[in-house]
Amino acid sequence: MDKQQEYCGIITGFPVSFSKPANLMRKILVTSALPYANAPLHIGHIVEYTQTDIWSRFQKMRGNECWYICADDAHGTPIMLHARQKGIPPEALIAAMSEEHQADFHDFRIGFDNYHSTHSDENRELASLIYKRNLAAGHITSRTIVQAYDPEEKMFLPDRFIKGECPKCGAADQYGDNCEVCGATYSPTELKNSYSVVSGAKPVEKESEHYFFRLADFEDMLREWTRGGHLQPEVANKLDEWFEAGLREWDISRDAPYFGFEIPGHPGKYFYVWLDAPIGYMASFKNFCQKNNLDFDEYWAEGSDTELYHFIGKDIIYFHALFWPAMLHGAGFRKPTTIHAHGFLTVDGQKMSKSRGSFIKARTYLEHLNPEYLRYYFAAKLGSGVDDIDLNLEDFVQRVNSDLVGKVVNIASRCAGFISKRFGGQLSDALSEPELFDSFAEASESIAEHYEKREFSRAVREIMALADRANQYIDEKQPWVVAKEEGRERELQDICSMGINLFKVLMVYLRPILPGTAEDAEAFLNVSPLQWEDAGRPLLAHQISKFKALMTRVDPKKIQAMVEASREDMQAKPQKAPAAGKKQDAIADTIEFDDFAKVDLRVARIIKAEAVEGADKLLALTVDLGDETRNIFAGIKAAYQPEELEGRLTVVVANLAPRKMRFGVSEGMVLAAGPGGKDIFLLAPDDGSAPGMKIK
Ligand code: 2FM
Ligand code: ZN
Repeated sequence: MDKQQEYCGIITGFPVSFSKPANLMRKILVTSALPYANAPLHIGHIVEYTQTDIWSRFQKMRGNECWYICADDAHGTPIMLHARQKGIPPEALIAAMSEEHQADFHDFRIGFDNYHSTHSDENRELASLIYKRNLAAGHITSRTIVQAYDPEEKMFLPDRFIKGECPKCGAADQYGDNCEVCGATYSPTELKNSYSVVSGAKPVEKESEHYFFRLADFEDMLREWTRGGHLQPEVANKLDEWFEAGLREWDISRDAPYFGFEIPGHPGKYFYVWLDAPIGYMASFKNFCQKNNLDFDEYWAEGSDTELYHFIGKDIIYFHALFWPAMLHGAGFRKPTTIHAHGFLTVDGQKMSKSRGSFIKARTYLEHLNPEYLRYYFAAKLGSGVDDIDLNLEDFVQRVNSDLVGKVVNIASRCAGFISKRFGGQLSDALSEPELFDSFAEASESIAEHYEKREFSRAVREIMALADRANQYIDEKQPWVVAKEEGRERELQDICSMGINLFKVLMVYLRPILPGTAEDAEAFLNVSPLQWEDAGRPLLAHQISKFKALMTRVDPKKIQAMVEASREDMQAKPQKAPAAGKKQDAIADTIEFDDFAKVDLRVARIIKAEAVEGADKLLALTVDLGDETRNIFAGIKAAYQPEELEGRLTVVVANLAPRKMRFGVSEGMVLAAGPGGKDIFLLAPDDGSAPGMKIK
């Protein structure tokens, strides 16, 4: 028996092949919540996709069949109105958004096996099937209800599309369901001076026939199921409260105009977005099965012995733990194995805030920092519960630098140079400290258990304790001293080979969290993609490749730039501030003449323009208003070289309140037009304009 085989036998007892015997291989389908095709992803979303992705990559490394499925959630009133506002069909909006989402996911290394859309043929068919089966079983009922209606737009208004004065405290511009000032909840009919945010018209009441899912029909099944180990304990407790409150019928229909699927047999009535959203999990999987010749029913038929996991945020538990299992049950499909809810993300201890620059879009993060940093940081914070997790930006820098760069990558970089320079890249043919290697390999099952239970922070802690031991080993052996002494060649090769083997075990354990770094490490180690069993297999008499830095330290300046860019993102797309008038908001972005008359527009000459250190999009301008000069920061760096601007005339808002920014105070605003990026144009008035001239 050669050394390698003998060693494997002792450590793990696994056969050399990676494939598990069929009876040990689990069949797992895993999903993350489907993001709305209405807005870009932010780093709060990335918590969930990272969590699910780590878990699914871990299952794959263990040799299980695991499919990770997702899709865009494409239906509903907000998407319909958003498309209308942009003047494009909803299909064009959701196609563009899907591309944007998928690019973000790809760059965060979220490894979906399939990404689809709820606006798909598969979903239409499955939604109809589930509806029809529930209808035939008597679980759907209908009745006429009265709802708020916009007489100008000729559409029923969801609560969030009605605003008015709070019936309790009188605060203006409150949404139709709750008051953000005093916290009162109420129905839209109670609002005073209510108006439609779509048209500004006063809503009227109008009757309409609606279809309801009789959730209470499933009470016994749900009480048993929710206590059957399918939910986290704290979630099951929350459900008890909902059972106590009573299971109400669920309105699953919406009237035209609506972007969704028409209900079979009821022209002009559409499935409510939340009816077909979870069915989107099935639809995406069906699409995947069709492309890959897999058996859909094996995973979804009642009584299936495959496993089905949904990772979701704690805000959508009601839909996933009550409506969804009931709909599936009513239609004769299997129910989820478990639902994994997680908490929300805070940044520096507070809710993400646009003005603080902590509302960070996924793309903004990617433009500044390595995705592996964030994946690691989230993993180090994630447990199996529903507690919120905090991204503390200082801690983030410190933790990534000390753990990943200072500990893990350092092990390889301390040993690799000697192996390549002195031994032609060849590792020793035996381990000089087999017990040390064993102790690393033996951690395999305990770390696997943490991953399995979604206790990622525990897994990370255990892995980092091993990294400390590996560094301690190198500190004790001092290869840099051994390297200088004659006759200690073999010893040097052994120490460094040990170090590299310990590094390899750590990369096996970290691979679900750091897929990109693991890929680079595999190239350096000259091995095929690492599997879990590889933790027990040392590389002996093995040729490695030249070492390249696997990760650089987080540069705190990049964090600052990201925060600043997030603030700039907000400036580029101002949030809709409630206006004093009644007609305002998301959809009808209009102001009254009196508002416009307040704006003091003046011609100004740009006398100096320069880049702002640490800001990606800003230029600092000094402008001459005729009787005074002002400093103004303008987000037009992508469009102009500073020197092209000097001497040009432009239009500024002269009476904008000064605004303190990280770089200084901005004393006005320069007007520009265009879609953004490079295509932003300053308005340059024709001859006859002079600094200080008022625009009428
Ligand atoms: O809350 C949300 O963002 C929804 N788009 C999640 C849907 S998850 C599933 F049911 F589709
Ligand atoms: Zn109020």
